[in-house]
Amino acid sequence: MRETGEKEASVRAIIEELCVDGRKKPRELIPFLQKVQARLGYVPAEVLREAAGVFGVPEVEMYAVATFYHQFRLQPPGEHRIKVCLGTACHLMGGQRILDWFGRRLDVREGQTTADGKFTLERVACVGCCALAPVVVVDEKVEGKVSPTRADGILLSLGVKPEAMKPKQPESA
Ligand code: FES
Repeated sequence: MRETGEKEASVRAIIEELCVDGRKKPRELIPFLQKVQARLGYVPAEVLREAAGVFGVPEVEMYAVATFYHQFRLQPPGEHRIKVCLGTACHLMGGQRILDWFGRRLDVREGQTTADGKFTLERVACVGCCALAPVVVVDEKVEGKVSPTRADGILLSLGVKPEAMKPKQPESA
């Protein structure tokens, strides 16, 4: 994870870059947000505030756009990103169950980061390994044919303690 100072410097650099470019058109907003997220891993509130003036739209509209599109994250990603594929093949092979399983184990919903900042749980579209469905991408590593038991193994390998994986509701492996 980046240091706070480094992040603040990146935010400032992006804002300065915007100001140099001058006023932007609202239709350039989504590509701009994509650029911010590609660079920082998320879209910080400071950027939305500053960019409202540059795009000539109210701040509330900046938030509305950023929260409407599923692709934008408004919080920094966790140390580890667990992306569960819900493309057609993975969905048919139980991808949703795996996503729910991780969610219960980590006590987060899709798109959220755990309170300790360790894990972000996301859904992704087909990652191109359909023969291995259901597929999970952990950081950049592809895990195929993931079962609930395998999901637990992944969490253990990432340092989650067994006692921390107590489910919030009844489950069956
Ligand atoms: S649908 Fe999941 S890898 Fe293709």
